[in-house]
Amino acid sequence: MCLSCHSDNAAHRGPQFQISEGVGCEACHGGAQTWLGTHIAGFNHQANLAAGLYPTDEPKARARLCLSCHVGSGEGKFVTHVIMGAGHPRLTFELNTSTQMQPAHYVVNKGYVARKGLPDGVRIWAIGQAMSLSETLRAFIDPKRNPAGFVPELVFYDCNACHHPMSNVRYAPHDPGPAQPGVVPFNDANILMLRVLVARTDAGMARSFDERVRAFHEALVESRTKAIAEARALLDLANRLEVAVGEHGYGRDDLKALASGLIANGVERGNYGEFSAAEQATRALWSITQAMRNGGMLGDQQQTAVKAAMAQLEAAIAKDETYRQATFTVALSGLGQALGSN
Ligand code: HEC
Ligand code: HEC
Ligand code: HEC
Ligand code: HEC
Repeated sequence: MCLSCHSDNAAHRGPQFQISEGVGCEACHGGAQTWLGTHIAGFNHQANLAAGLYPTDEPKARARLCLSCHVGSGEGKFVTHVIMGAGHPRLTFELNTSTQMQPAHYVVNKGYVARKGLPDGVRIWAIGQAMSLSETLRAFIDPKRNPAGFVPELVFYDCNACHHPMSNVRYAPHDPGPAQPGVVPFNDANILMLRVLVARTDAGMARSFDERVRAFHEALVESRTKAIAEARALLDLANRLEVAVGEHGYGRDDLKALASGLIANGVERGNYGEFSAAEQATRALWSITQAMRNGGMLGDQQQTAVKAAMAQLEAAIAKDETYRQATFTVALSGLGQALGSN
């Protein structure tokens, strides 16, 4: 079970294959027996892909790959709360920042762009959010990964909702969100990011997304059968959203609107009560401010102010156990001000 994510647990193993190498090149780029020939012979990227090289440069294919281990959507790959209880770290992932932290072992230079095109970090973030939600919902409705026991599989819920001291009361109603205090909240970090995205990319879909999310949260406190039915309906919408946010081109006005939407989510709506949402918001704002900088939207002085404000956000999410929404909100306002003169 562990090896399915912590190594390249491949069926076909050459004479030099060693499982102890962990997540090696072929775990991501695909078993090389079919494509190594064209690759070392200097054929172009398309020829390597045709020979079976995995398209890690294509955002959706990359998301499917990374999420298979980082959410646990791949065949036989899943971390339960029992495994967490034995000491496994909480899984946390965001496609764009995680790609760059991997560590990135490639350089996006002229040659890279000529071969593969210029990666759009904000689009990669958007696709990562939509696919994280759909992969999580698919696991939630799967009786193998969410069996009908007395206690549901806790891994789908917000870890810090249970693992925090009672002196730190954090319930703040958010809509659409958990309907009442004292319920175990489904981890809605991706949902909160997607709300901002869909408001920008498809206003028509935004209303039905809110309606479905609201119904899902309500069903979660009613019955398992209802929760699974609403998860299916939301998954159906998430699949369409995946296409909508993936096909959108993220221009300057979009970047500004997304940044202010994400900031308003916290400052005006108090939506970042849970640590996981604050963490995703920080990753999102990192991707967006990076795109603004790369696109020449920030002057020198503003770049310094934005960098300092981002450091405040990072500091506010440095430790999940000590996270405080108030501190995070102050840092968000700081970023809003730094971007304000834009
Ligand atoms: C669904 C895929 C998956 C499965 C199954 C899985 N892990 Fe992990 N594990 C991960 C990922 C992804 C990380 C990195 C977590 C992060 O930092 O976000 C990780 C991190 C860890 C770490 C921390 C490593 C470090 O450098 O801090 C240990 C230890 C670990 N896993 C052990 C195990 C063991 C033992 C099992 C089997 C009982 C197991 N894992 C099963 C995906 C998985
Ligand atoms: C965790 C997944 C992962 C692992 C493991 C991994 N890569 Fe990558 N690799 C990527 C991603 C993502 C990219 C960037 C997208 C792209 O260009 O395909 C990439 C890009 C590359 C590139 C493209 C450079 C270019 O200019 O086009 C090469 C070459 C490469 N990796 C080689 C390796 C080698 C060699 C190893 C093992 C030592 C390795 N990778 C391990 C995910 C991975
Ligand atoms: C075969 C499963 C697998 C795949 C596929 C995979 N990862 Fe991982 N990744 C892991 C495991 C396991 C760890 C933890 C390793 C450890 O700490 O020992 C990890 C660790 C990481 C870390 C460091 C986490 C941290 O917080 O320190 C990053 C970043 C990361 N992966 C990014 C990616 C990206 C981006 C992709 C897709 C291009 C990807 N991974 C694909 C299994 C995988
Ligand atoms: C519904 C509440 C709830 C949620 C949500 C929840 N847990 Fe737990 N967790 C518990 C309970 C109850 C225990 C058992 C505590 C005990 O034995 O004293 C536990 C135990 C643990 C332990 C072992 C602690 C120990 O002292 O043995 C770890 C680690 C852990 N959980 C991690 C997580 C992670 C990571 C998540 C999110 C993916 C999570 N939990 C989500 C309720 C929850």
